[in-house]
Amino acid sequence: MVGALALDASTDSAGPSGAAPASARSGTDASQVLSSPTASATPTHDPAPSAKQKPLSASGSSASPIAPATTPAQTLVKGAASGSPIQKLFATGSEVPSDKKLLDIFNPNSSLVLVNKTHQLSPLKYAPKDLRAPAVATGSQEPGALRAEAAAAAERMFTAAAAQGVNLTLMSSYRSYDTQFNLYNSYVAKKGAAAADTTSARPGFSEHQTGLAIDIGDAAAGSACDFTSCFAGNPAAQWVAAHAHDHGFVVRYVPGAELKTGYLAEPWHLRYLGVGAAQDMKVRGIASYEEYLGLPGSPGYK
Ligand code: DAL
Ligand code: ZN
Repeated sequence: MVGALALDASTDSAGPSGAAPASARSGTDASQVLSSPTASATPTHDPAPSAKQKPLSASGSSASPIAPATTPAQTLVKGAASGSPIQKLFATGSEVPSDKKLLDIFNPNSSLVLVNKTHQLSPLKYAPKDLRAPAVATGSQEPGALRAEAAAAAERMFTAAAAQGVNLTLMSSYRSYDTQFNLYNSYVAKKGAAAADTTSARPGFSEHQTGLAIDIGDAAAGSACDFTSCFAGNPAAQWVAAHAHDHGFVVRYVPGAELKTGYLAEPWHLRYLGVGAAQDMKVRGIASYEEYLGLPGSPGYK
C-alpha cells in the first residue's frame, strides 16, 4: 500500500504545500554537502574524564601496585571503535544485556545496530520477529509496527509528551525491504537518484527496516510541515529534541551532521537505542550515532 505511505522526507516541490526543496529552503546544496571531501572521521565529543596514571611518590616507593602507563581500551561493543563513547558507557556495567551477542552494532537484532549508507542490514532483507503495533495516536494510514521494546518505549514517550500538552502522532515506523524499495524508487522517479539519496535510504539501508525507527507528526500543528524542514519549529519536534532520550530514542539526523549521517536533517525521525545509550549520547552532546560509535562518517554509498 505504497500510495498511502507517508513519504519520509517529502522535500520536493511536488509536495502538498508546494514548498521548495529543503536544499533550496536552507540555502544549501544537499548533494554538495553530502559529497564534500571535508568529512572528518574523528570523534569530537568526549566530556568524560580521561583515565590518569596515579603519580609515584617523590621517593619512588609506593604502598600500592604501580598503575599501568595506559588504560587498555575497552572493546565491549563489537564493531564500535576502542575507546569510543559507547564503549565507555557499557564499561561502567550500565544496561549490559544478558545476551552478549546484542553488544554488536552489526547484529540486526540489537537495539544498537548501525544502519547507514556504508552499513547495510545483514541480511539485506532482514525482518524483525517481534513486531507489534504500538498503542499510540497515528497520523497516517500506514499500519504502525515496531519491535516490542521500541513499541513499549514509544508508548511511554507519547504518553509523557501528552502529559505536557504535546500530541505526537506516528507517521511511519517499520518498513519492510520491499516497502522501502518502492518508496526509494518513487523518490528517484520524482527527483532523480542524487536528490533521493539525500533524504531516502535505499532498500536494506534504512533504519525503518530494523523496527527501531519512527517518524512523528504533530496533531496540533497539522500536516503542513510533515516530513519537511519546517517541522523543526513544531512543538512535537522541540519536545522530542529535549526529551526523547529519556525514553530511549535519539533524533537521528540533525543539522550539521549531514556528512556523518549521510542525510539532510530530519527532526521527525527518531531511532530507538535504549535509554542508557540515548541518554549518554545526549548528555555528551554527540550529534550522530556514527560519532558515538567512534566510526567515520557515512556521507555516501560505497
Ligand atoms: N529517511 C530515512 C533516511 C530513511 O529513508 O530511512
Ligand atoms: Zn524516518
